[in-house]
Amino acid sequence: MKSTPTHIPVLLEETIKALAVQPGGRYIDGTLGGGGHAAAILEHSSPGGQLLGIDADVEAIKAARARLEAYSGSILLVNENFVDLQTICLKYDFSPVHGILLDLGLSSLQLNGNNRGFSFQHDAPLDMRLSPRQEVTAAQIINDYSERELARLIRTLGEESYGRRIAHRIVQERPIKTTLHLAKTIERAIGRRGGRIHPATKTFQALRIAVNHELENLEATLKQAVKLLGFEGRLVVISYHSLEDRIVKKFMHQEAKGCICPPGTPTCICDHTPSLRLVNKKVITPSAAEVQLNPRSHSAKLRAAERIINQEEHAEATENLFSLLERQDGNWKKPVQLNKLRMTFAIPSLSQCLERVKEGEVLRI
Ligand SMILES: C[S@@+](CC[C@H](N)C(=O)[O-])C[C@H]1O[C@@H](n2cnc3c(N)ncnc32)[C@H](O)[C@@H]1O
Repeated sequence: MKSTPTHIPVLLEETIKALAVQPGGRYIDGTLGGGGHAAAILEHSSPGGQLLGIDADVEAIKAARARLEAYSGSILLVNENFVDLQTICLKYDFSPVHGILLDLGLSSLQLNGNNRGFSFQHDAPLDMRLSPRQEVTAAQIINDYSERELARLIRTLGEESYGRRIAHRIVQERPIKTTLHLAKTIERAIGRRGGRIHPATKTFQALRIAVNHELENLEATLKQAVKLLGFEGRLVVISYHSLEDRIVKKFMHQEAKGCICPPGTPTCICDHTPSLRLVNKKVITPSAAEVQLNPRSHSAKLRAAERIINQEEHAEATENLFSLLERQDGNWKKPVQLNKLRMTFAIPSLSQCLERVKEGEVLRI
């Protein structure tokens, strides 16, 4: 009998530490996959933790739902693309949060699955979409793009120096409908080259990134994530190739800076204020032991940053709060808003929050 492939979560301990998971905390796992990281987040945030899990792949949602059954009262699983993060959080009233995790790329379930077209280890239609709701498949790109467009895509998104040669061969060989046909065509174009990786690896990466708009979606999502974090909330991103890591690094470093005017600008014109503090100055990578145990972790890079709130944002949040928290007959109205305040200012319990509001102390955070 064939066993179901399982996904081993990458940098698990490091992720929980970087997220600073705390009991009663509220977290978003934007890349739920097999639910490995999510299970650990729920375990460490218990009692009282809550998790919003998102995945564009409905199969991942099913697998994670089964794995997280013990936490069914604390989870909300949504089959959507994380590029819609703010809309999703608004719909389910799930913000501010203590932490957001993005563990990018694909899970072993997708790579080992036989029919998704992500891998050249199995023959399958060239699809590569995370969700059937997306319009463009890898087959459409391979068969409809001009030779020039293909060469550019393979070179830029696959970081493949033989992009032109591969594109030329693909165009001669078209139509190409399956993964093995494409892999063989690439091998004929550039040979085995004696390297450790298969000659089709980089082209497959380029296609997957293009089909799923991975880089654009990541950029757009990072911006939204910052707005959803409460004070001292953590953003943790694990990436698996340099194009993704470059985006994450640039974003976090930029958000951690004050002025972002171009070098040489005589006086600041950007008015930029930092919204993040870097948790680790250096990127976190897996140990040799982890790579040996789980070879898929070898290219992983983890970056983490913490939300900081500037004076203006603090004043606005406090003002909103006080307008919501009117006293009525000696009781505080609207416990939901009080809870939001607790999250915004990372106050551990509702009663402590109430105390601090009564004493006006929240204003001084
Ligand atoms: C590396 S796996 C995550 C594995 C997970 N952390 C675990 O421990 O099981 C990445 C997952 O993110 C999902 N994914 C990738 N890009 C996405 C996007 N833009 N929106 C939603 N899900 C996405 C993939 O479908 C895949 O299931």
